[in-house]
Amino acid sequence: MATPSMLLVALLAFFCPPLLSSSSSDGLWAGSSLSVEETADVLTSPGGIFSAGFHPVGVNAYSFAIWFNTQSCSAVANNCTMVWMANRDQPVNGKRSNLCLSKSGNLVLKDGGQILVWETKTVSKSVTNLTLDDGGNLILRDLQGHILWQSYDSPTDTLLPLQPFNENSKLISSRSRGNYSSGYFQLYFSPDNVLSLLYKGPEYSSVYWPSPGRLRWDAGRSTYNNSKIAVLDSLGNFSSTDYFSFVSADYGSKIPRMLKMDFDGNIRLYSLKEDGESWVVSWQAFPQPCRVHGCCGPNSVCVYSPNLGRKCSCIPGYKMKNHSDWSLGCEPEFHLSCNQTEQVGFLKLSHTDFYGYDFGMYPNVTFKDCAKICSQMCDCKGFQYKFFKANKPGLYCYPKTQLLNGHREPNFNGDMYLKMPKATVSFYDSTAVEDSKLQCSNEVQTLEPTYSTSSKRRENDPLDFALWAVCAVGGIEFLAIFSVWCLMIRTHNDSIPKANNLLATTGFRNFTYAELKKATNSFSVETGRGAGGIVFKATLSDGRVAAIKRLVDAYQGEAEFLAEVNTIGKLNHMNLIAMWGYCAEGKHRLLVYEYMEHGSLAENLSFKALDWKNRFNIAVGTARGLAYLHEECLEWVLHCDIKPHNILLDSNFQPKVSDFGLSRMLNRGDVKHSHVSRIRGTRGYMAPEWVSNFPITSKVDVYSYGIVLLELVTGRSPAMGFPGTDEGSLKEQTLVEWVREQMASARETETRRREIIDPKLEGRYDEAEMLNLVAVALQCVEEDKDARPTMGEVVQMLLRDQSH
Ligand SMILES: *[C@@H]1O[C@H](CO)[C@@H](O)[C@H](O)[C@H]1NC(C)=O
Ligand SMILES: *[C@@H]1O[C@H](CO)[C@@H](O)[C@H](O)[C@H]1NC(C)=O
Ligand SMILES: *[C@@H]1O[C@H](CO)[C@@H](O)[C@H](O)[C@H]1NC(C)=O
Ligand SMILES: *[C@@H]1O[C@H](CO)[C@@H](O)[C@H](O)[C@H]1NC(C)=O
Ligand SMILES: *[C@@H]1O[C@H](CO)[C@@H](O)[C@H](O)[C@H]1NC(C)=O
Ligand SMILES: *[C@@H]1O[C@H](CO)[C@@H](O)[C@H](O)[C@H]1NC(C)=O
Ligand SMILES: *[C@@H]1O[C@H](CO)[C@@H](O)[C@H](O)[C@H]1NC(C)=O
Ligand SMILES: *[C@@H]1O[C@H](CO)[C@@H](O)[C@H](O)[C@H]1NC(C)=O
Ligand SMILES: *[C@@H]1O[C@H](CO)[C@@H](O)[C@H](O)[C@H]1NC(C)=O
Ligand SMILES: *[C@@H]1O[C@H](CO)[C@@H](O)[C@H](O)[C@H]1NC(C)=O
Ligand SMILES: *[C@@H]1O[C@H](CO)[C@@H](O)[C@H](O)[C@H]1NC(C)=O
Repeated sequence: MATPSMLLVALLAFFCPPLLSSSSSDGLWAGSSLSVEETADVLTSPGGIFSAGFHPVGVNAYSFAIWFNTQSCSAVANNCTMVWMANRDQPVNGKRSNLCLSKSGNLVLKDGGQILVWETKTVSKSVTNLTLDDGGNLILRDLQGHILWQSYDSPTDTLLPLQPFNENSKLISSRSRGNYSSGYFQLYFSPDNVLSLLYKGPEYSSVYWPSPGRLRWDAGRSTYNNSKIAVLDSLGNFSSTDYFSFVSADYGSKIPRMLKMDFDGNIRLYSLKEDGESWVVSWQAFPQPCRVHGCCGPNSVCVYSPNLGRKCSCIPGYKMKNHSDWSLGCEPEFHLSCNQTEQVGFLKLSHTDFYGYDFGMYPNVTFKDCAKICSQMCDCKGFQYKFFKANKPGLYCYPKTQLLNGHREPNFNGDMYLKMPKATVSFYDSTAVEDSKLQCSNEVQTLEPTYSTSSKRRENDPLDFALWAVCAVGGIEFLAIFSVWCLMIRTHNDSIPKANNLLATTGFRNFTYAELKKATNSFSVETGRGAGGIVFKATLSDGRVAAIKRLVDAYQGEAEFLAEVNTIGKLNHMNLIAMWGYCAEGKHRLLVYEYMEHGSLAENLSFKALDWKNRFNIAVGTARGLAYLHEECLEWVLHCDIKPHNILLDSNFQPKVSDFGLSRMLNRGDVKHSHVSRIRGTRGYMAPEWVSNFPITSKVDVYSYGIVLLELVTGRSPAMGFPGTDEGSLKEQTLVEWVREQMASARETETRRREIIDPKLEGRYDEAEMLNLVAVALQCVEEDKDARPTMGEVVQMLLRDQSH
């Protein structure tokens, strides 16, 4: 642009003429502006991946934002995935607002064209331009090309690949779903150099990740490197100078990703799916949504149930402070005078924890003494009383001055005792506050003999649904969560950003019986059969090859069946078989799944093609799928029948776990209200709890998974017997005993160790990985369920060693 006169130049320094839309996508030159009223006033990155412009955030409210420029997203329709915002806390009017790059080099956002809302405060004598690059970075440069300002330096709630995160960076969550203004959760480098998550609410603040109860070092963090740098690389590897690192579930591919501080207090990595439109969660900081501090206010308890999502409830004897705001929590309905200690009573809340605000820790005190300590302290609101195994085992008493960060989880081993007037305690006691447990009957009934390697039919059975396990979850809880089982995070207003919401389960649908009949050619190609149903290969009308399972003995109630199917259909993980749809017509109950060309692990284990690398990947992938089932669902969904038949392989030998959640669809009576149901597992893979009286937890799956690992390494089925090695002993060993013994004596002789390896590998395997796999497997098959790791820990143990 030629300079007509000095006057005009002077004017341009203050007024920004509108930009000619035609050039807008390249960049914004000094002296021009983008208007909120022009939908074409959008900067687009050279590759078209990102756009920047005004995006609506409410009624007649706009923010200047950067978003993923996906095909169907429309800024006008307010459905783009935003990654940055200039003015999240102060949206501008839809009339006359503009973003102007002044001649003096300042980038200014004005509300209604007048009120300054945001500026970069940059100054430059040489003319500048503003451009958006394909990494999603909005950059202001001077003529020499020096960067004066860039959006990468001031992230909002999203970190993009290669965007550095440092000492000055903060990701701050948005307020709620749909409200993009600053919320209460933030990711930052704490002063001790550790990447942390902080709740910073109006009344208190508290770090909740890494877990505050653990030492930094125990959480795998280092406090020594004060350079404080973290970055997500383009392949999906995130690493930070405090030694924290993770790789995304789809690590290795160069696809768009974003790390987001979500409004529910968790950080998640999202990956763009192949459709280029929807996002899938490929990592998250922790699976337990109630571990987030501050999610419910004081004197309340957070409970997560898969059906309802995250819920806050006042503890007994307390009422909500303000019905429109949970962050204010609850207040007592009773009055307790400090002088009348004899009138004080305690109400037990099982499996409930309140983090922080302890007066102190009193080891080795009796329950009575602990109660006495609390009674005599005027400020004591209650106490935690729990057994600790740690260095000095014993019963510990923690009186608390405040009841904050309350959460309740079925697998939390500790009880809380609330201080309240005796009369109030007896009131709640009489309303049947019953202890709740994840319950399954331990009655074992094996319908089919076992998984047997001799059965020809099953050898060729890619979806073997022969044996079922039914886990009924019963019990009464004081918060009235009845019989929850796992599914997936369900959308409820206050719940969690849903991966599956974002990734829109487009494929999932209702099929007619006629359609499926046609697709299977009148159910002609049977590929498997079991107690759960018969599996047929099918080609859907859109050309997709599917596996269709016709349930035998399914729920008669259509509504219930649909509820179950819909939730399973929403489970979405690369290591879980995807359900595409269902049919519930008359008495027909069918499920439509993706078809796995490579069949099951059981079949492929007998092929040489399953080399060591594939075996190891199968071990990791299966663990990831199970960890997702267990942890995302907080133990509510147990698979209960892990075995090589239920681990299917895709064309890249990526494992996908099948058969989860299906037990709910079989007609086993009204499991919701019964404490007793039948269990069917597969001999050889079943954890000892099934036949003893111990509670059934997710550790039953860990056990079965351990057996599968041993099978991956040895190529031997647990159904086979192993001759005892003691001379003269006729007693057969189990696979576990055999491997344990071989490994124990392996120290003396190398050959012993080699003996356990599947001969089909012909000696080609990675020794370190093999030893790691066996070590993990042996931990998984510990008799004592508490000695077994969780599936999440298994994933970490497998990967930790891989990087060496
Ligand atoms: C978002 O939340 C903030 C803080 O609660 C509130 O002031 C603002 O009005 C909300 N914005 C919208 C669009 O609801
Ligand atoms: C966004 O809205 C537009 C217009 O309503 C619609 O055509 C498009 O499918 C939507 N895209 C997404 C990703 O929801
Ligand atoms: C912006 O300015 C820089 C340096 O002044 C120049 O290299 C670049 O080509 C300009 N970008 C556009 C889109 O004009
Ligand atoms: C800190 O981390 C940076 C980046 O990874 C590295 O270059 C540096 O050597 C580290 N410093 C120490 C003292 O470990
Ligand atoms: C991820 O990046 C870190 C730092 O560059 C590196 O040490 C680590 O090996 C990488 N992990 C993987 C799986 O590539
Ligand atoms: C509850 O909070 C809302 C919004 O903060 C406020 O307008 C209202 O007056 C409060 N209600 C009570 C009973 O304090
Ligand atoms: C409680 O005791 C204090 C002194 O110990 C006394 O001053 C106060 O009046 C007593 N309050 C009640 C309600 O008894
Ligand atoms: C508690 O008492 C037991 C038995 O007397 C003892 O072994 C243990 O060390 C004690 N624990 C603590 C924390 O003092
Ligand atoms: C919850 O969401 C539903 C539908 O999205 C809406 O109709 C309802 O008003 C919401 N409830 C609250 C309390 O926001
Ligand atoms: C599924 O389709 C069948 C047959 O077309 C129909 O009767 C049924 O109502 C549908 N169910 C749902 C939940 O859409
Ligand atoms: C895995 O098993 C299936 C079914 O038997 C077979 O079609 C496939 O070829 C096997 N894959 C390999 C690599 O052996």
